[in-house]
Amino acid sequence: MDGNGRWAGKRALKRFLGHQQGAESVQFVVETASRINLPFITLYAFSLENNLRRPKSEVNFLMKLLRSYLVGNVQRMNDNNVRMTYIGRIHELPSEVQETMQWATESTAKNTGTTLTLALNYGSRSEIVDAARAVITDLIAEAHQRGCSLEDMLQVDGIEARLDEHHITDALYTRQMPDPDLVIRTSGEKRISNFLLWQMAYSELFITDRLWPDFRGIHLLEAILDYQHRERRFGGLGESFTDEDLDTLQPAAEVAEEIVAKLTPKQLAPR
Ligand code: FPP
Repeated sequence: MDGNGRWAGKRALKRFLGHQQGAESVQFVVETASRINLPFITLYAFSLENNLRRPKSEVNFLMKLLRSYLVGNVQRMNDNNVRMTYIGRIHELPSEVQETMQWATESTAKNTGTTLTLALNYGSRSEIVDAARAVITDLIAEAHQRGCSLEDMLQVDGIEARLDEHHITDALYTRQMPDPDLVIRTSGEKRISNFLLWQMAYSELFITDRLWPDFRGIHLLEAILDYQHRERRFGGLGESFTDEDLDTLQPAAEVAEEIVAKLTPKQLAPR
């Protein structure tokens, strides 16, 4: 949800007002997601880095905004069959914020439509660290229960059987949801910014110059339409690629020659 600050700056307003407008966009977009039966939507609302590097006043404002957003919108979430969850180091947020978050989760727990996940105090690297710690802690506890050392247990079971991609996936905060099919980045940023690094290995990216406070349901639909024209290959060749295509591929050396010919020769500075 990038671009709140710039949206405010363009109007000579304080950054806070950009965040406030950004919170309005959240509800519009979530309700569109619900209308088209999108099973999951995850919003990167507040990163670990935001928490560490933004001025205290801005962090405090965002916490207040989050609470008032939850209090003000739980009824609408229920009207739209939306269930609220969170990912991130939630336990590090102020206790009154955690209480409101918990209340919103419980109040929407019975809904069966779109699951809205807010990434709060979230960082993907720290999520992977937390997952690795959880996997190791569980393995140690199991070895202890079996009355042997971790080393002996891994030797008997085989490390490949006890630690593979599924074990990490199942220990991430996102274990209850599928990997994202589509990741939308607003305000033209072309970075991943420590978001769902493991989970977005094969996600399709959609980058728009639109600032988050200007983002509405129609722009979500635009991104989904674009996504629907992508061919996802997951490292394979895809349906439209046949063995004959391999035979007709232009040789790499020829392609390289063409590219070199197109490059503008660098002006050599006189010595
Ligand atoms: C990034 O824009 C946005 C944030 C750090 C906060 C996002 C928060 C909200 C949209 C509102 C609160 C959330 C909910 C769910 C109610 P930026 O400040 O980095 O903007 P800039 O890149 O233009 O400076």
